[in-house]
Amino acid sequence: MRRHLRLVSVCVISVFVSGLYVFEQLASSLETDASAGGLSPPHPQHRCKSMSVTHWNPYWRLPRDVCGKNCFMESARRYAVDKTLSEVDRAEPVRLAVVACGPRLEETLTMLKSAVLFSHRTLHFHIFAEDELHAGFRDALESWPGSFRSKFNYTTYPITFPSDNAKEWKKLFKPCASQRLFLPLILTEVDSLLYVDTDILFLHPVEQIWNFLSQFNSTHMAAMAPEHEEPRIAWYNRFARHPYYGKTGVNSGVMLMNMTRIRAKRFKNDMTTVHLRWADLLMPLLQKYKLNITWGDQDLLNIIFHYNPESLFVFPCHWNYRPDHCIYGSNCAAAEHHGVYVLHGNRGVYHDDKQPAFRAIYEAIQKYPFGEDAVSFLLKPLEEKLKTTMHTYCGRSSHLFTKKLQESIRKLQNDNHNAR
Ligand SMILES: *[C@@H]1O[C@H](CO)[C@@H](O)[C@H](O)[C@H]1NC(C)=O
Ligand SMILES: *[C@@H]1O[C@H](CO)[C@@H](O)[C@H](O)[C@H]1NC(C)=O
Ligand SMILES: *[C@@H]1O[C@H](CO)[C@@H](O)[C@H](O)[C@H]1NC(C)=O
Ligand SMILES: *[C@@H]1O[C@H](CO)[C@@H](O)[C@H](O)[C@H]1NC(C)=O
Repeated sequence: MRRHLRLVSVCVISVFVSGLYVFEQLASSLETDASAGGLSPPHPQHRCKSMSVTHWNPYWRLPRDVCGKNCFMESARRYAVDKTLSEVDRAEPVRLAVVACGPRLEETLTMLKSAVLFSHRTLHFHIFAEDELHAGFRDALESWPGSFRSKFNYTTYPITFPSDNAKEWKKLFKPCASQRLFLPLILTEVDSLLYVDTDILFLHPVEQIWNFLSQFNSTHMAAMAPEHEEPRIAWYNRFARHPYYGKTGVNSGVMLMNMTRIRAKRFKNDMTTVHLRWADLLMPLLQKYKLNITWGDQDLLNIIFHYNPESLFVFPCHWNYRPDHCIYGSNCAAAEHHGVYVLHGNRGVYHDDKQPAFRAIYEAIQKYPFGEDAVSFLLKPLEEKLKTTMHTYCGRSSHLFTKKLQESIRKLQNDNHNAR
């Protein structure tokens, strides 16, 4: 009987392998046909890497330069990156850090609310804020209903800088955004952290982005999305007066960090021939570039990863979706395929009327009463509101905003239902 089974499994495996072989042959013959048809665009390698492959556009339907012969295996792997990220140690909470100053209390609470609403993991919030905001955070977070309150712990911290240069750091960019550069040096006991700006909204469970940590190779220590998808309207490649990462730079509004590695690494740089630790790198970098940087600490991060590109894991734009991705027409291909996972309302779009689709999402989450039916009290009113934004390019892309949100809301509803 045993032998029988073994024989059967050997057969099954060899049939599968030969199937693969036939498949690949077929694929390459199709590709040859396609190229004979005169398709020969310029940068094969680049296009192959940049186009995502899904079951809607399987690799064998793509032109040869987009997916070469080896792309079958490669695309399967790439798809897996998006679909089935392996999990980071569940015993540890997902750690989320934010820095809030000035009038950002309500916006920050809305970001935290979106994290708590849709997450299925325990969370820990590390909230860095000006002293006068601490009570506001405590009061609001403690008032959330038990079923949500039990999903997270939080710690509040004052804004602190290395004392000798505190003034210089504080005036860089917005009042206290450069705080994030010091997180690895302040939270010395914390291994990994997801830093987000206050104007982030999670439309998809936050643990999914956290799981990118398990995709890091041995040299990765941080992950961010590109600053731009479209070089013709991008900022860094047209205006920056300093080095930056890759073709269009990276955006630091959503930044995943393995801080153990950041603290241990010695960074290459253009100031000394010796490699510098994080703690020793930041001030000389600021001194050298302070007259040339525009976007504060994000520019410093771009300079650092320009010289240390092997340390950065770049995730696609639907994990940090900004008005830039739709303002002149949709240019984030990953969001077209998967929907928006993390929305980033930079340039104040949650609070003015320039991008009403972004504002609609913000207000829908902000106003949603915890525990109420999320379809009637969040999704439905939001969809109505989005219909009134069709006169803007971003409004016309707003089905991408709600694609993941719908899923997240359905799951939330099931959870609420099961909890009753
Ligand atoms: C919050 O912290 C307490 C005490 O350390 C711990 O028992 C609890 O499990 C934590 N809750 C969450 C959601 O992490
Ligand atoms: C700052 O910008 C100026 C003008 O583009 C350039 O000449 C200079 O080299 C830059 N400084 C640094 C440190 O890159
Ligand atoms: C971060 O990196 C350290 C050192 O390589 C490693 O031990 C740790 O498991 C990593 N953390 C995560 C969450 O992957
Ligand atoms: C890790 O991946 C980056 C690209 O994201 C690459 O530059 C680097 O060489 C890789 N490191 C190793 C050890 O393979």
